[in-house]
Amino acid sequence: MNDVSSAVEALCGTSASPRIPVPCLTARLELRPFCEEDIGKFSKVMADQLATQFIGGPKSPAAAADSVRYMRDAFIDRGWGTLAVVQRSDNACIGYCGVRPLQNTPYVELAFALERMSWNCGYATEASEASLDLAFRHLPVDSVFATVYSDNRASIRVLTKLGMSPHGSIFGAWPRSSALLYRLERSVWQASRCKGNGEP
Ligand SMILES: CC(C)(COP(=O)(O)OP(=O)(O)OC[C@H]1O[C@@H](n2cnc3c(N)ncnc32)[C@H](O)[C@@H]1OP(=O)(O)O)[C@@H](O)C(=O)NCCC(=O)NCCS
Repeated sequence: MNDVSSAVEALCGTSASPRIPVPCLTARLELRPFCEEDIGKFSKVMADQLATQFIGGPKSPAAAADSVRYMRDAFIDRGWGTLAVVQRSDNACIGYCGVRPLQNTPYVELAFALERMSWNCGYATEASEASLDLAFRHLPVDSVFATVYSDNRASIRVLTKLGMSPHGSIFGAWPRSSALLYRLERSVWQASRCKGNGEP
């Protein structure tokens, strides 16, 4: 996995970091930086036992507010990171999606979580496809990774639909001790974009 390390180290530097352009519109969603107004809705998503079972468990409203501000500030400071996923039909924030540094590694990971009411409508796949496009278009990475627990079948299905492949395990993955690692290489992304949309 040394292929992306130097690129991501360069990414994480403060001066010459590239920036992901926002907002990003998909057919049904808008991906944009979090704002204070998202805290109420995001707190409800993070209070849900089922929606948070693989991401550390339910959070208090104060902790959810901290997360919103952390994601907002990290995106502003770094120029890329996890974004609010907003339904274009009603402007409601339904969760987060985007790429961020993979903790304790020099790699970039795709991360997502959505409110339970919006599951199984293809939203995570739609938001993730857009996030991967943004990452490969604007960040100098050769691969994007994802971590997932083996019993998180819906997430594994999403990663598979995105063309990501199993790439071993990662240890020390919070909150459990290990997780599966998935990877999408730039060449695979590029081939899929050429097949689907023409221009990579
Ligand atoms: C994972 C999550 C983001 C998926 O969001 P989503 O918008 O429902 O995803 P999509 O609709 O794009 O795709 C879900 C796919 O998983 C499938 N799926 C759902 N539950 C499943 C299960 N228990 N077992 C197997 N597949 C399942 C769906 O059928 C669908 O596949 P299909 O399109 O082939 O029918 C959402 O369930 C979630 O927020 N979970 C909690 C947070 C989380 O686990 N985040 C990821 C951490 S790695």
